[in-house]
Amino acid sequence: MITSIVIFGASGDLAKRKLIPALYNLFAKERLKGDFCIVGVSRTAFSHEQFREDMGADCQRFEPAYYNEARWQAFAGHLYYITADASQVDGMRQVKDQLQAIEGGPCQRLYYLSVGPTLYEPIIGALREHGLQQEDGGWRRVVIEKPFGTDLASAQALNRFVHEAFEEYQIYRIDHYLGKETAQNLLFLRFANLIFEPVWNRNYIDNVQITVMETVDVGRRAGYYDGSGVMRDMFQNHLLQLLTLVAMEPPTSFEATPLRNEKVKVLRAVRPIDLKHTIRAQYDGYRNAEGVASDSITPTYAAIKLYIDNWRWQGVPFYLRSGKALKHKVSEIAIQFKRPPHSMFGQGIEQIAPNVLTLCIQPDEGIHLQFEAKTPDQPTMQPVDMEFHYRTSFKAQNIPEAYERLLLDALNGDAALFNRSDEIEAAWSIVDPVIQGWSATPDASPLVRYAKDSEGPSEAEHFLAESGRHD
Ligand code: BG6
Repeated sequence: MITSIVIFGASGDLAKRKLIPALYNLFAKERLKGDFCIVGVSRTAFSHEQFREDMGADCQRFEPAYYNEARWQAFAGHLYYITADASQVDGMRQVKDQLQAIEGGPCQRLYYLSVGPTLYEPIIGALREHGLQQEDGGWRRVVIEKPFGTDLASAQALNRFVHEAFEEYQIYRIDHYLGKETAQNLLFLRFANLIFEPVWNRNYIDNVQITVMETVDVGRRAGYYDGSGVMRDMFQNHLLQLLTLVAMEPPTSFEATPLRNEKVKVLRAVRPIDLKHTIRAQYDGYRNAEGVASDSITPTYAAIKLYIDNWRWQGVPFYLRSGKALKHKVSEIAIQFKRPPHSMFGQGIEQIAPNVLTLCIQPDEGIHLQFEAKTPDQPTMQPVDMEFHYRTSFKAQNIPEAYERLLLDALNGDAALFNRSDEIEAAWSIVDPVIQGWSATPDASPLVRYAKDSEGPSEAEHFLAESGRHD
């Protein structure tokens, strides 16, 4: 039976930058098994041939490591294009008819919504109208991009709408951070080793810092971003997902239900965030970007401190930070341990640097453990690093793009690295009150400014320092 991957919004950026290169890589690695076709759908008129040529040029541009002309030609034979407005019932009829002609018989289908969020409901509604969600002879699945809603109420409404067409087991809500090798490695570090788990709790850990800093500014996405801001764009999804991986209890297996059950428990245990424990900031010049209101107060940077009210994490602060237009690009999780209870080396306990386990998500993917060592020929000590780098330990292997793993999982029916409806809603329940609080009582956490290409607002540094904790 043929497998169809139907990409709605195929002429957009995500399709050419991520989806088609990821599918090509899967093909090159012989992971796309059996008979398959990839069908792009969009309103922009293209022939199959033009679509193949365009995607070939883009693939070469974005994924040179795997590009090989002969292999691309073999892959391109599986690419098709349908010009249609899939958000309209009539347009979806054209999609249905042409899809059936391409497939030529029984099929299983993955629908990928690589479109703006305003089109999710119209496309899903049109799919339902034509019965395209029905599993006649083969499975039907739908992948939905972020943002999934703009707040709790809209996410609940969207979940209800999607559930009128698809069953939960058919729905794959994507968060590409979960597809990153280094994010998944967090689970391997914690649960495939014995030495970390016994100390992974409030008795040994002083605080956890989850940081996602970006050098890029909002660029051409300002129109979307100004209505969204960093809490919706980064915290509700990527940062809270990383939080769940750090904080969850060991699931019984790496499968969708046990894994997601544990993640939901973490999100539900997050204590409502005190606005005094938040910082929001905007970079200088943001208001001049095209599409941004001249008096915009949309934050492009935020730092929050939160607590997880459960047995393991009681009293341990989690610091989450993310911002755009910063000096360095870095995504990492730092686990800072407590100091030893007694110093026998003459120095005060405060002179002993705490152990820090840092998981570098990107760039320079790896793990570092900072510990104290005796300085040679001196009676003193100093912090040193024990390091693991992907690029040296796994020389030959490229780290695959997150979308490769996620597309393959969706094709294989493995939803472990996708968000369940209750998980999405629990995450909105955490960030919603912060966003609302910022607008209802702006003085509780006034918007501060920071220079482009800087380390971020100085207030954020004080944030950690005030609690007696440092980077
Ligand atoms: C996206 C956000 O989800 O993630 C972007 O919408 C952000 O604003 C991007 O730049 C970051 O992803 P990555 O993989 O580059 O860290």
